[in-house]
Amino acid sequence: MATDVLIGQLVGVFSVSLLCVALLAARRRRRTPPPPQEGDGRAVLVTGCDSGFGRHLALRLDHLGFTVFAGCLLPEGHGAQSLAQESSGRLRVLKLDVTDDGDVEEATRIIRDNLPEKGLWAVVNNAGVSDWAETEWSAIDHYIKMVDVNLFGCIRTSLAFLPLVRASKGRMVYMSSIFAFFNCLNMGAYSVSKRGLEAFADCLRVEMASFGVKVSIIQPGNFGRATNILKTKTSRDIWEALGPEQKQVFSREYMELASGYVSSVTTSGFKEVTPVIDAMLDAVTSPRPKHRYLLVSRLDTCFFACYPLLPTFVSDAIFALSPMYAKRKEMLYLKQSCGK
Ligand SMILES: NC(=O)c1ccc[n+]([C@@H]2O[C@H](COP(=O)([O-])OP(=O)(O)OC[C@H]3O[C@@H](n4cnc5c(N)ncnc54)[C@H](OP(=O)(O)O)[C@@H]3O)[C@@H](O)[C@H]2O)c1
Repeated sequence: MATDVLIGQLVGVFSVSLLCVALLAARRRRRTPPPPQEGDGRAVLVTGCDSGFGRHLALRLDHLGFTVFAGCLLPEGHGAQSLAQESSGRLRVLKLDVTDDGDVEEATRIIRDNLPEKGLWAVVNNAGVSDWAETEWSAIDHYIKMVDVNLFGCIRTSLAFLPLVRASKGRMVYMSSIFAFFNCLNMGAYSVSKRGLEAFADCLRVEMASFGVKVSIIQPGNFGRATNILKTKTSRDIWEALGPEQKQVFSREYMELASGYVSSVTTSGFKEVTPVIDAMLDAVTSPRPKHRYLLVSRLDTCFFACYPLLPTFVSDAIFALSPMYAKRKEMLYLKQSCGK
């Protein structure tokens, strides 16, 4: 009798241990992502390949065996031409201004007619522009241009290619920025465009889940030195476009300071594109891509990961405590220097 109980207990302990090991192994399997999917037979469209992240990603995907359609603003330009030379014969440069309905229509026709056997696997909405200026220093045209490329350009491209991506149960990838959620001086128009882009991508992700299409958002921090995205406006450009009332509020001295500050920030960013390209690649190839890829320094990761969760009065206080903001407050209504 005692032996039967002992055997029963041993069998029980053994079964529970086996179950635990099986559960742990299953969990581990879930955590360890399988190897990336191969590009063989699949096509990817990347927009904005004349330079920067788009160009690097197009080359990496090409080396992985994907059929890459590289959308370029200027297909005859140096960026597009050298991309074609450096890539395999599979990569095809397309003229694709994302603000132009005709270009998008023509690109859709070319891609549809030249798809490899497994179809269009992914669209990487990368094309974008950036600039700086305080919210009220920009005319409406500046906002329209920014949103036309960064937001409506992505929506226009997405709507055209969604049926093909749905057919392959593939990927839609959106190049956003930390400025989609991080409010700071001088990035108003850019933030508007990227926040709108994330709203679009979030809605799309929910709807596309039922078709097996996965949607990812890439949020790089400051990679200004690694690409061609740097600001184009000078403080003089902005100053000359201001009205008399604004010139009284914002002194020329402050404008110089703001311009210098923007330059110093943008030229102190990462020099290497690798983390961003790895994230874009993961979004395209991983069986379990992330919803969001935040790409900032290790030190900044905690700050930027928590920032969107903060109550507004706390995030505004962080912003107001920055030395630049304090300096700005001191310089408002500063008497103009003679001759300026
Ligand atoms: N670099 C960063 O620090 C950073 C940070 C966060 C997010 N991003 C985002 O990353 C994306 C890529 O930018 P990047 O940093 O690689 O800068 P980039 O080198 O300037 O690349 C942007 C590309 O988009 C192209 N483009 C501009 N307008 C276009 C249009 N209407 N249609 C099609 N293509 C157009 C540009 O062509 P041209 O060269 O001929 O103008 C360029 O090839 C952008 O969406 C940007 O907002 C960049």
